[in-house]
Amino acid sequence: MSAMQPTYLHDYQPPAYRVTHTELKFDLSSSATRVTARLHVERHPAHQDAGALPLVLNGEQLTLKRIAVDGEELEADEYAQDDATLTVHRVPESFLLDTEVEIDPAANTALSGLYQSSGMFCTQCEAEGFRRITFYPDRPDVMATFSTTVIGDRATLPVLLSNGNPVESGELPDDRHFVTWEDPHPKPSYLFALVAGDLKKVEDRFTTQSGRDVTLQVWVEEENLSKTDHAMASLKRAMKWDEETYGREYDLDLFMIVAVNDFNMGAMENKGLNIFNSAAVLTHPHTATDAAFQRVESIVAHEYFHNWSGNRVTCRDWFQLSLKEGFTVFRDQSFSADTNSAPVKRIEDVSMFRTAQFAEDAGPTAHPIRPDHYIEIGNFYTLTIYEKGAEVVRMLRNLLGWELFRRGSDLYFERLDGQAATIEDFVGCMSEVSGLDLTQFMHWYSQAGTPEIDAHGEYDYAKSEYHLTLRQRTAPTPGQPDKVALHIPIRMGLVGTKSGQDLKMTVDGESVGTDTVIHLREYEQHFVFTDLAEAPVPSLLRGFSAPVKLRFPYGREDLAFLLQHDSDGFNRWDAGQRLAMLALEDLIAAHRNGVEKVMDVRVVEAFRTLLTGETDDKAVLAEMLTLPSEAYIAEQQPVVDVDAIHAARTFVKQSLAYALRDEFMAVYRANQLDAPYAPEPQQIAARSLKNVALSYLVAIEDEEALSLAQAQFDADHNMTDVRSALTLLTHSSRNDLADPALRAFGEKWSHDPLVMDQWFSIQVTRPQADALDRVKFLMEHPKFSLKNPNKVRALIGAFASNRVNFHRIDGAGYRLLSDVVIELNKLNPEIAARLVTPLTRWQRFDEARQELMKAELERIRAEDLSPNVYEVIEKALA
Ligand code: PHE
Ligand code: ZN
Repeated sequence: MSAMQPTYLHDYQPPAYRVTHTELKFDLSSSATRVTARLHVERHPAHQDAGALPLVLNGEQLTLKRIAVDGEELEADEYAQDDATLTVHRVPESFLLDTEVEIDPAANTALSGLYQSSGMFCTQCEAEGFRRITFYPDRPDVMATFSTTVIGDRATLPVLLSNGNPVESGELPDDRHFVTWEDPHPKPSYLFALVAGDLKKVEDRFTTQSGRDVTLQVWVEEENLSKTDHAMASLKRAMKWDEETYGREYDLDLFMIVAVNDFNMGAMENKGLNIFNSAAVLTHPHTATDAAFQRVESIVAHEYFHNWSGNRVTCRDWFQLSLKEGFTVFRDQSFSADTNSAPVKRIEDVSMFRTAQFAEDAGPTAHPIRPDHYIEIGNFYTLTIYEKGAEVVRMLRNLLGWELFRRGSDLYFERLDGQAATIEDFVGCMSEVSGLDLTQFMHWYSQAGTPEIDAHGEYDYAKSEYHLTLRQRTAPTPGQPDKVALHIPIRMGLVGTKSGQDLKMTVDGESVGTDTVIHLREYEQHFVFTDLAEAPVPSLLRGFSAPVKLRFPYGREDLAFLLQHDSDGFNRWDAGQRLAMLALEDLIAAHRNGVEKVMDVRVVEAFRTLLTGETDDKAVLAEMLTLPSEAYIAEQQPVVDVDAIHAARTFVKQSLAYALRDEFMAVYRANQLDAPYAPEPQQIAARSLKNVALSYLVAIEDEEALSLAQAQFDADHNMTDVRSALTLLTHSSRNDLADPALRAFGEKWSHDPLVMDQWFSIQVTRPQADALDRVKFLMEHPKFSLKNPNKVRALIGAFASNRVNFHRIDGAGYRLLSDVVIELNKLNPEIAARLVTPLTRWQRFDEARQELMKAELERIRAEDLSPNVYEVIEKALA
């Protein structure tokens, strides 16, 4: 089947024809929408001297009604059509192409192209959805201005939106009306958008630094009007930040955000008309947690930032996806760090990265930041492209320093404005402004897998020298057996064991201060620090200065010492995580060997110090009190033993709670807030600290703690506290408390889909053995639907993250997931391909589970698969 053939980066050719202007007319109706297109086409200069070149357009699931070139209808033998393309055999150098097609939005469950969601029409075109709307050269290096007329029923579709500015509107016969939109900025088809529905808006204004007056609108269903404040405020902050930080200003008079309930991803940066998953835009203190508020802020910013990093400068081809995504994630991370607690933002991002991206890089779907082939590009919207891409941009920022990096960014936006660029273009600008040779650095883009660094150090008392040896190695990944040495910047300090202070460092006779970056470029390198007054403990990879695994044979005393004295907040946190990991590893071994578990007192004492000491950053403290997740612990194990990990982590949590009950209780009580809810850093910090403390106390099912949790739930002050309390009760063994709370919550919020998503997730992530039965039961719930991606993620996705229950040794968890994947393969291939991920990680488990997981993968493979699921399954079973 041709759809299963890979596309290769090395096959890239400029398009034979380009489109300079695109005129579209949509006559909307549920199952028979008419799309009329007039394309202004001309031969691409790169192909000027070639002979007759056919015009090949993409098109899928389109019923062609009419086709004409320069007004002349084509005869049947003048063009050819298959299920993915339309070819016109002979065309002039420059011409008008007219087509008319019919499409069926109501039948579109894949949510790619034009579809319906809660009665409204909306589009999703990235990466290759536009070809389900009209025949077109659907590739990002074809950029055109657009003029779009949308026609719909006045009563059911009073609002008709598209990219750019509205230029005309009016009434039509049969109670229909139209609006015409013009987008003056040339754009690729993946940035096209249309929305039509019964929507209400909130409106605000923003004046850009050069004085352009911009109207800002957030469009939602009427019942959600009270949930838009935070998104609007975040948008204004993001616009200002991008002006101040990157000198980037908005370039249209209107900027719109629309919330839709059925959406495959978080949100989409369509020019002037961002479309959001309602979960990524709507917030209210009673329906959204602090984490959700922060997520909305960062996604609103992310999509807005794409206006420059993605839209004004776009990607030449989809292999360059990280050019826009890695850079834009780096920009949104920096924005969130500037707006909230910077150290906590880094800790959260790195925790997620080291758990999920490392797992991806170690699994069968591992790929470089710039892949060299794909079957289905929809499978490459990954943590590697996004988050590892952002880490690589962060390394560039650190290598150049902010000022040069900013100059490189200015050069990039200026030189490539209005163009479709490559990763070489971006890195080239950085190299040009700085004079740095980034040749070796470029391997970060082409080499998959996580580099592992083994570090060893020795203090020579006689010479007052510290010798540090670093070795790098990247394990083979699919298709890449041999790895080159990468350029790895390691930010570090040497902390004096006597003084507890960062020592002044001298390398090769040169003083480098108390915090420096050493550059590992070889497989093995040796660094000598001279003139050290005292023996140090090294603090390596400060701030997670490179996306690598770094091993150093720290003793527990060293880690306890760094936890107290490291001047780098990130590494203080990391020292605590490493210390907890050492204890957890002992306990995992004890559990496996059936030996009595004994708690490491050093961890208890470290926690006591944290709980009773002074703190100026409660948010960081809350992170320090959080144990590594089961998923993170699993990442560190050669063979994952889900039960031992769960038992060990529970044991540590309970031991800490028994030993430090009063301390946790004091922290809980000291962090109650009376003030009205606000999603601001200080309040968020207090709530997270309080709720972490409560989680320890409920872990031992302390009566007083259970009643505090119950009271916190009943007080109904804000969703952060309510959800936290409900989760603790539901994940305890006390069904007598959990059941009534769940019932009350479910009844109270049955009208609110986003709250119901949380209600589903809380139940199916409980560690008790009935979790799987609950999933089956809840799949029949009237508020559940396999057609809604948020529901699938909230119920099925959340269950697959419930490690002890998903990995049940009877295989029932795997079976449930594969049943859903098989169903979704027909309805929504993109979501199906994502959902199957946990099964693809089978190599990490014991033999019995490996066999069970592989059997489910084989069962899926026997189906008639979409390219999306096919590609993932083939890699997983290769
Ligand atoms: N480009 C979107 C973003 O990152 C993500 C997306 C991809 C949305 C594909 C929909 C489809 O911001
Ligand atoms: Zn993005």
